[in-house]
Amino acid sequence: MALIDNIPALLEEVRSLQAASPTELEELRIKYLSKKGLIPQLMNEFREVSADRKRELGVAINNLKTAAQDRINALREQLSEQQNATEKPDLTRTAYPTPLGTRHPLSIVREEIIDIFSRLGFCLADGPEIEDDWHVFGSMNFADDHPARDMQDTFFIEAHPDIILRTHTSSVQSRVMERQQPPIRVICPGRVYRNETISARAHCFFHQVEGLYIDEKVSFTDLKQVLLLFAQEMFGKDTKIRLRPSYFPFTEPSAEMDISCNICGGKGCSFCKQTGWVEILGCGMVDPAVLEANGIDSTRYTGYAFGMGVERITNLKYQVKDLRLFSENDKRFLEEFQSAN
Ligand code: PHE
Repeated sequence: MALIDNIPALLEEVRSLQAASPTELEELRIKYLSKKGLIPQLMNEFREVSADRKRELGVAINNLKTAAQDRINALREQLSEQQNATEKPDLTRTAYPTPLGTRHPLSIVREEIIDIFSRLGFCLADGPEIEDDWHVFGSMNFADDHPARDMQDTFFIEAHPDIILRTHTSSVQSRVMERQQPPIRVICPGRVYRNETISARAHCFFHQVEGLYIDEKVSFTDLKQVLLLFAQEMFGKDTKIRLRPSYFPFTEPSAEMDISCNICGGKGCSFCKQTGWVEILGCGMVDPAVLEANGIDSTRYTGYAFGMGVERITNLKYQVKDLRLFSENDKRFLEEFQSAN
């Protein structure tokens, strides 16, 4: 009997094909689909059939061919799934080292600063980056028309002049004071924003850590001692500090602190512009007006505050020359800090 009279039976047969191994599967493919297989044979017979049966048989042969291909593909998939499920890991394979990630240099330094002050009894405090004018300026003794507001180029939100991006983390100090009475001993790490043109030396955002200590009888001596301890923990035991008079609206008296240049050891180099000193932070005794504005009795309590830039400290520790490197996510730069982790 000619194959062509047998298409319905062949279709049945093809649909229920089984293969237990890749070899068996290959045999099936050869039997049905290879050049000399059943389906090409059918195509040959098809050429001989009478014109009136061409249409009907053409469709039937095509269906059979598709069914055969589908079944064989399905069996192939089934076999590879079975194989994956039973495959065991090769325990003799060499173990490749997994590349380690690195922490960002700013995170490394921020954690180090936090760690030093935690050991001195400071707790962590946090606050929003999008702030209101009161917490950033008003409560910090910046009068409405105070020229000191120009010290920090603020990002304002046009539709809401009261809402700004905080220019310093002093806003967190204010938030702590308004909900807690002394003793207060906190450090406030966080990101701050200033409207500056981006260059190697300035960026529109950077990071600060501010500290605040308020209690009865807190003195400038306490401030100096804590900052000396910090400088020596951060930059080495031989580090010296010096305080220069300065001005901030929220502290009185105010000072800026230099450390002996950690690159030349104070002898004078291009980094410290031959002075032997580099500036690292601002500080002072909390202005009584700030205590009062935040609900703390300034006749009973005194306090000190200080604030430093994390980028600045990182530059000093690792001599990063260009601030932009910190926010560009260049892996080559970040990987240099692998051993510092
Ligand atoms: N808030 C100051 C600044 O951003 C830093 C500072 C904090 C100075 C606390 C003194 C005391 O420049």
